[in-house]
Amino acid sequence: MYRTHTNGELRIENANQEVTLCGWVQRSKDLGGMAFVDLRDRYGITQLAFNNDVSTELCEQAKKLGREFVIQAKGIVTERSSKNKNIPTGEIEINVTELTVLKEAKLPPFTIEDETDGGEELRMQYRFLDLRRNPLKNNMILRHKMGLAARTYLDSLDFIEVETPYLIKSTPEGARDFVVPSRMNPGEFYALPQSPQTFKQLLMVSGYDRYYQIVKCFRDEDLRADRQPEFTQIDCEMAFVDQEDILNTFEGLIKKLFQELKGVSFSDDFPRMTYADAMERYGSDKPDIRFGMELNNLNALTQNKGFAIFDSAELVVGICAEGCASYSRKQMDKLTDWVRRPQIGAKGLVYVKCNEDGSFKSSVDKFYAQEDLKDWADKCGAKAGDLLLVLSGETNKVQGQMNDLRLHMGDQLELRDPNVFKPLWVMDFPLLEWDEDSERFHAMHHPFTSPKKEDFDKLDSAPGEVRANAYDLAINGVEVGGGSIRIHDKDIQSRMFDLLGFTKEEAEAQFGFLMNAFEYGAPPHGGLAFGFDRLCSLFGGQESIRDFIAFPKNNSGRDMMIDAPSRVDASQLKELSLGLKIEEKV
Ligand code: AMO
Repeated sequence: MYRTHTNGELRIENANQEVTLCGWVQRSKDLGGMAFVDLRDRYGITQLAFNNDVSTELCEQAKKLGREFVIQAKGIVTERSSKNKNIPTGEIEINVTELTVLKEAKLPPFTIEDETDGGEELRMQYRFLDLRRNPLKNNMILRHKMGLAARTYLDSLDFIEVETPYLIKSTPEGARDFVVPSRMNPGEFYALPQSPQTFKQLLMVSGYDRYYQIVKCFRDEDLRADRQPEFTQIDCEMAFVDQEDILNTFEGLIKKLFQELKGVSFSDDFPRMTYADAMERYGSDKPDIRFGMELNNLNALTQNKGFAIFDSAELVVGICAEGCASYSRKQMDKLTDWVRRPQIGAKGLVYVKCNEDGSFKSSVDKFYAQEDLKDWADKCGAKAGDLLLVLSGETNKVQGQMNDLRLHMGDQLELRDPNVFKPLWVMDFPLLEWDEDSERFHAMHHPFTSPKKEDFDKLDSAPGEVRANAYDLAINGVEVGGGSIRIHDKDIQSRMFDLLGFTKEEAEAQFGFLMNAFEYGAPPHGGLAFGFDRLCSLFGGQESIRDFIAFPKNNSGRDMMIDAPSRVDASQLKELSLGLKIEEKV
């Protein structure tokens, strides 16, 4: 055995024991007649003491140890004269009697400390070193524990984990596919799954009425802090259930995770809100309900008073920022610039300051009387000292912009406490969304989502108004999961494909296997998938899911460490019957 204990394990009770430890040199201190080394492994840090009185040779050897050398040290556990209260092993040190350098190490390009001096690119390049740091290590452990707790919960309810293939045919989640050429079938390609959607539905036909899988999914889409091209889902499906059964089962999972990993318990059911209400009240289908500042429709109070911008707008909407009437000109300009940034895209920002003396000061004083502004303030629930922020434009756009502004103000006013968790089920999503570019409907969730029974008659007359049996779980403004009750009837499924603009042949070519399977006894079924990386980052109190993935990609979808994607040999291309159109890079 290389070691008798880990570096996080020894306490004062172990005094006088002879132990052998292994690990990495965090730092070494030369105090002349003595040397100290902080020895680190996954479990903690233990101090090694080298004393000239024991061995000058050992002491000299210790002084020469470089950062991140891998060493083995044997010695006696001894009570420290100056104790370190900050670490669990801080009351003892090891008086070393034998030292072996197991492996020397190059000087790391950044310090392996909680607060490191390395920039993100460099740390991505040397991810194996970054993973030695506590913050990342703790994230990996959290992730492991979350996975374990999820598996235990699902297992206790008779869910079985079934693996589904990665080399498949395109799945219908709506992003671009990653494709893999097939050597044995020249000119043909597999697609990597955007999710196991079709397979989990097939498993329901197979009679495995409770399936789950912690599974990699692949989507070629623009990346953000909460999006990676390969990410992980806790993917679930159930048969012989209705929507209520699914919501209850998976609310139970989330409650269990919160209880076990955060010590947070939710005694009440998670609140629910329809998609329509969420959009109207928050401008978002994943509202952060940790704070109010709801959107207020001001159309009736602002239009037809001669202000052309509001008159021509589909929606005029305001929020109330409490206590912000004292914002200076500079602060208002900054806020206006913020909403005008291309990422937000508003043309301008109208404000009303509710002065302490009961009067109002606005950027549109020319068009509106004090009584008008008071009506706006009343509608938005503003009182003296508050600030109204108003945006206008096309409904979809302005709701999105107002959502961004609301979250921004929430951050500025510190209303988004990372230690408070507010889950919300968002229900009754529209079945379809109109896509301007392709001028046709797309499935808002995916084409297997069932329409609500009471909206069936609108499938022909007003397809855009049909609601789906689809739901998302949002926590603190993050969409952590989503799912639906599926169509399990061939005729309704064909109708859906019609609406989505598929010809019979196209539908058959893409999803014939599923439609065929449905003819052999498909049970009513439904399910959902949680974004596992997002759940981890939420529990870990950080925005970027990257820090919860051991080897993530950067924003250009690149693995900086292994340098992928990369060119392949001409011979490999030939074998795959592929030619490249792009010029060789010089
Ligand atoms: P959906 O597409 O909503 O549903 O995905 C489910 C959850 O996966 C997470 N997620 C992502 N996380 C990180 N990076 C990404 N690129 C990414 N894309 C999605 C989100 C999301 O809520 N098959 C359906 C589920 C079902 O109907 O059962 C599906 O994949 O947290």
